[in-house]
Amino acid sequence: RVPIWLDCDPGHDDAFAILLAAYHPGIQLLGISTIFGNAPLDAAVAINSKTTWNATSILTAIGKPNIPVYAGAPNALIRPPLVPPTDIHGETGIDGTDLLPRPLTPANTSVSAVDAIAAAIIRTEPNTAWIVATGALTNVASLFRAHPELASHMKGVSLMGGAIGGKFTGAIMGKVGNVERMGNWTQFAEFNILVDPEAADEIFQNPVLKGKTTMIPLDVTHLVLATQEVQGMLLFGRSSDGAAAWAGASQWTRAESEGEKREIKGKTKLRTMLVELLTFFAKTYTDVFGITEGPPLHDPLAVAAVLTGTEWEIPFFDSTSSGGKERYDVHVNTVGTHEEARAGAETGRTVPTLMPEGQEGTRIPRGLDIEMFWQVIEDCLERADEV
Ligand code: BDR
Ligand code: CA
Repeated sequence: RVPIWLDCDPGHDDAFAILLAAYHPGIQLLGISTIFGNAPLDAAVAINSKTTWNATSILTAIGKPNIPVYAGAPNALIRPPLVPPTDIHGETGIDGTDLLPRPLTPANTSVSAVDAIAAAIIRTEPNTAWIVATGALTNVASLFRAHPELASHMKGVSLMGGAIGGKFTGAIMGKVGNVERMGNWTQFAEFNILVDPEAADEIFQNPVLKGKTTMIPLDVTHLVLATQEVQGMLLFGRSSDGAAAWAGASQWTRAESEGEKREIKGKTKLRTMLVELLTFFAKTYTDVFGITEGPPLHDPLAVAAVLTGTEWEIPFFDSTSSGGKERYDVHVNTVGTHEEARAGAETGRTVPTLMPEGQEGTRIPRGLDIEMFWQVIEDCLERADEV
């Protein structure tokens, strides 16, 4: 199994990253660290802080309360925190359901998150372990500052963050005025990168990590929308004859159109909770971005990407039309404050340069087998339902 450490800021989509990491048979989840982002993380009350509480609560909800959780950084490396995105994730960072349980196991405070990650990774076989980051990269940058030797020991870093723009995948992010939008937090910047652009640039420019970093930008995540059909399957599961069809979809769609959504109870409490989260996330994506097909489920894709090259591979397409593998030198624009970014500066923009064929660089896939991805999420839910 592929050993991974998950660094996250739950987060509606982070919750699905946790589910996938905890239940995929090809993954060994070593532990979780939290970062401020979708909601604050106040170091003084780390155990009850929002993103940390959310992570421990999600683990309890999915029946994995013993996976260790460590509270990481409450601030960016050098900037003041970005205002939390309450219009996307709500006040708690994971609004939309009353079914999140009180955590059975609190976060571990005996050592810092950075030291916990280092200790877990160094125990893995060389060239096997991944760090998956689904929030700002502050903890990950701090890890490699404190333990630079880990970069050569591990297999790689897979991160959800950044935006490429143009016709990179064909996903449409919308417009700012008449200009094409590439970021979600500003016209140019994706949220996780904008929160701590200096940390992100340190990861992309780390000479040892250059050949082993995978970036999952918005251009890819906006191809993976949790549509009504997907939500139907996640709510009701596969049909009892075992068919891989989206069994619940028609039932869900009918109930939706009849306005019965609130009364609908999924096959299990966990499924109901997760679809309540998706329903909230869908509404905020409609309200803020005008995306009506369903919310993009960004974060689990960074987990899925670590399966590349294993028997469990979910194919990610990262080849040019000529068949070569694209690799990039990625720089992050660190000029300007968050306020200037809001006013139009390119702060937090990820700028990729295609490397000559055969040279090392960051992998940025252009797509994936989306149907298979949802089937794998459903497989994980079926496993979680049995616990
Ligand atoms: C990223 O920002 C957060 O809101 C999500 O959890 C995801 O990690 C998308 O830009
Ligand atoms: Ca996240």
